[in-house]
Amino acid sequence: MRYAQITGWGKYAPPLLMTNDDMAKIVDTSDEWIYSRSGIRQRHYSHVSTGEMAWLASERALAAAGVDAADIDLVILGSTTPEEICPNTASYIKNKLGATKAAAFDLNSACTSWFYALNTASDMIKAGSINKALVIGSERISLAMDWKKRESCFLFGDGAGAVVVEASQQQSGLLAGKMSCVPDSRECLHLPGWGMSPAHLTDDIFISLNFEGQEIFKSAVKGMSDAINDVLKAEGLSADDIDLFIPHQANIRIIQTLAKRLDFPMEKVVVAIDEYANTSAASIPLAMCDALEAGRIKPGMTILTATFGAGLTCGAGIIKWGERIEPIAVSDKSIPEFDGTVFDLMKDSFSHYGVDAAHLLTEGKF
Ligand SMILES: CC(C)(COP(=O)(O)OP(=O)(O)OC[C@H]1O[C@@H](n2cnc3c(N)ncnc32)[C@H](O)[C@@H]1OP(=O)(O)O)[C@@H](O)C(=O)NCCC(=O)NCCS
Repeated sequence: MRYAQITGWGKYAPPLLMTNDDMAKIVDTSDEWIYSRSGIRQRHYSHVSTGEMAWLASERALAAAGVDAADIDLVILGSTTPEEICPNTASYIKNKLGATKAAAFDLNSACTSWFYALNTASDMIKAGSINKALVIGSERISLAMDWKKRESCFLFGDGAGAVVVEASQQQSGLLAGKMSCVPDSRECLHLPGWGMSPAHLTDDIFISLNFEGQEIFKSAVKGMSDAINDVLKAEGLSADDIDLFIPHQANIRIIQTLAKRLDFPMEKVVVAIDEYANTSAASIPLAMCDALEAGRIKPGMTILTATFGAGLTCGAGIIKWGERIEPIAVSDKSIPEFDGTVFDLMKDSFSHYGVDAAHLLTEGKF
């Protein structure tokens, strides 16, 4: 039997941080309010594109797997924020990596994009149509934050995570995966203005997240619970058989509610939202990389993952980890740092959304 084992992993967390206290200098909010409602302490904001972040995370994943880019058959970028729609960003990443024979496509199901991509690549490997795939989640979502909306601008951060998935005879990788889409919840999370519509031919493009927080909360918990029950049933497992749970990181209270519904102890849940906020498609691979670095993933572990995003797309999966938890090699590739503060980085965004932040800028950078 063919399986699709995860053999390499890598991340890129941009170095510039926007803490909750920084955020309170821009909008009427506080660290206390944000942390207590969401579990977020800070977010990383990127000075480079979604494709650049994805490239570096991929270099690191390939090194960890000990795989040459030229041997990769498929590159899938899961993302809601590619810098261009056409050509796709996966082809940029593939070329920069030197993955010469790989097919390349972007996949957008919002925050679930990385999981949908993992499911797709794993099924292709199991079916025998490819042998090695690179599955990436990367988002530069900071540029879509409407600084006039304090109820949503604090929720998201940038970053990238990638895994190498390879054909294996050992029972491992995504054993069961469920992709779903909750009916009638399409409008509760929406980025109008992001894409091709007749209105854009005449209007200035102005992206501003529309958001019904409590509606998302309810649909997300229900959608993920249903998907989790499906994959547990498919593998004949119960929550007691799960060693570690790596959920999508959108809100700590959503994670806690889900864990409670499953009767699953929080000690076995990987939480990274305090560090990164919601990085959309990058959230699960980032949390997975951190769990590996922290020694929380052990050989042969049975890992549960669950996710949701705009659409309202949902998913869950049972991942059996292989024997290796150490990278084979470490990439020496890097991205030059940004010369300035996070406020300098975001100055165009602040002025685009009509926020006066000139007093926060480093002299000479504005
Ligand atoms: C967004 C979210 C954190 C808001 O939490 P909440 O408990 O639902 O808070 P509410 O929206 O009810 O707002 C409560 C109050 O706080 C205020 N408030 C909103 N944003 C605030 C901020 N940044 N700082 C301070 N106060 C704020 C509101 O004005 C409201 O005030 P009022 O009671 O006087 O009217 C929460 O709904 C959530 O996380 N939802 C899901 C997010 C998500 O899934 N995102 C991505 C999907 S992939």
